Amino acid sequence: MNRKGDKSLIVGLDIGTSKITAMVGEYSPGQELEVIGIGSHESRGMKRGVVVDIESTVQSIKHAIEEAELMAGCEIRSVYASISGSHTQCRNSPGIVPVASGEVTYQDLDNVLQAAKAVAIPSDQKILHAIPQEYIVDNSQEGIRNPVGMSGVRLEVRAHIITGALSAAANITKCVNRCGLQVDDLILSSIASSTAVLTSDEKELGVVLVDIGAGTTDIAVFVQGSIRHTASLPIAGDQVSNDIAHLLRTPTPEAEQIKVRYACALAQLATAEESIQVPSVGDRPPRRLARQALAEAVQNRYEEIFEMVQAELRRSGFEDLVRAGLVLTGGSSRMEGVVELAEEMLHMPVRVGIPQNIKGLGEVVGNPVHATGVGLLLWGSASENPRRPSLSSSKAGNLFSKLRNWYRGEF
Ligand SMILES: Nc1ncnc2c1ncn2[C@@H]1O[C@H](COP(=O)(O)OP(=O)(O)OP(=O)(O)O)[C@@H](O)[C@H]1O
Ligand SMILES: [Mg+2]
Repeated sequence: MNRKGDKSLIVGLDIGTSKITAMVGEYSPGQELEVIGIGSHESRGMKRGVVVDIESTVQSIKHAIEEAELMAGCEIRSVYASISGSHTQCRNSPGIVPVASGEVTYQDLDNVLQAAKAVAIPSDQKILHAIPQEYIVDNSQEGIRNPVGMSGVRLEVRAHIITGALSAAANITKCVNRCGLQVDDLILSSIASSTAVLTSDEKELGVVLVDIGAGTTDIAVFVQGSIRHTASLPIAGDQVSNDIAHLLRTPTPEAEQIKVRYACALAQLATAEESIQVPSVGDRPPRRLARQALAEAVQNRYEEIFEMVQAELRRSGFEDLVRAGLVLTGGSSRMEGVVELAEEMLHMPVRVGIPQNIKGLGEVVGNPVHATGVGLLLWGSASENPRRPSLSSSKAGNLFSKLRNWYRGEF
């Protein structure tokens, strides 16, 4: 728990493949969360969403945290950190318990979720999330959102279980701990981004969130208000930059700059006359290249990404149920023409999602690259202030929560 005066602070640490961002949110009960500090630093120790170099990642986290502390005027002790990568897996699992008192209590909700978590998972995986989708009381009433207070003898839950590699989770925790910080919780990047950019109407109607970052494309499907499927594909903006580097025979940092400045994901948006200047490797003079050739290469890679998204959606079985369409976010969603390309390929409405439901630093935070960071703050504040008064939110190392629970007699 981080505190500043009588306000509580939540810190989100988005550990991405291209950048690590620490975001400090301030809240008091009943008030909207406000971002009061942000620090971002280039990420050098991550590949396709997982830590490949602990020391470099630690250094990047330290820089991001220091910058955020300076801006927010606080000392950060613990963070909600993101986790992603193709090691993450999901399944929908039911749980059933008897209702002891004849009337469903919050304790029954905890028990039935525990029952849903009792699934066989590979020994190298751990459960990251168990999210209730709906409850059923006595086989008769289905689709219940909150059964507390209802009469019955048997409570069933359908839950979305997300697991991740033990080693990947441990490496993130290790990096954070080496910076002298505690991990409040690890949150799947796509869950965080969904919390920041999707509306409840979209989730109700059916929607697929696609966060295209640098190393991973993270997917989350919502139908009837609940999460139904999650996946992380190991292909995103880095591959687009690599393609450009190959095409132009130019170093990757230059290719990255050319991509952001001149590229588009639909070749027809570039006219035949447009050309760009390309720096060469070594001391050779710069060359000129038709912008259309650049656009074609970029379009090919984005098409591959959307083909994989479609295949994943099909595999999930929810393809026909995402009536609100697709919401794109993440840095690579800023590419010109990407919405049109996605609409053309997936035959559904597409929009770019920017973080919502948050105050403060609007001009910085209102950017798709910060979807995960803002989502971590929103998810963290919701889990620290559950609307269920008897639910314990205590986490290891979270002294304030423990004291609060002790005060409530919940130890
Ligand atoms: N204006 C832009 N046009 C096209 N691509 C962009 C633009 N701005 C950023 N990008 C790309 O977005 C990617 C970074 O996005 P983001 O910050 O969401 O990734 P990340 O969170 O670091 O990585 P990941 O989530 O994959 O681990 C980079 O590949 C970058 O080139
Ligand atoms: Mg990201």
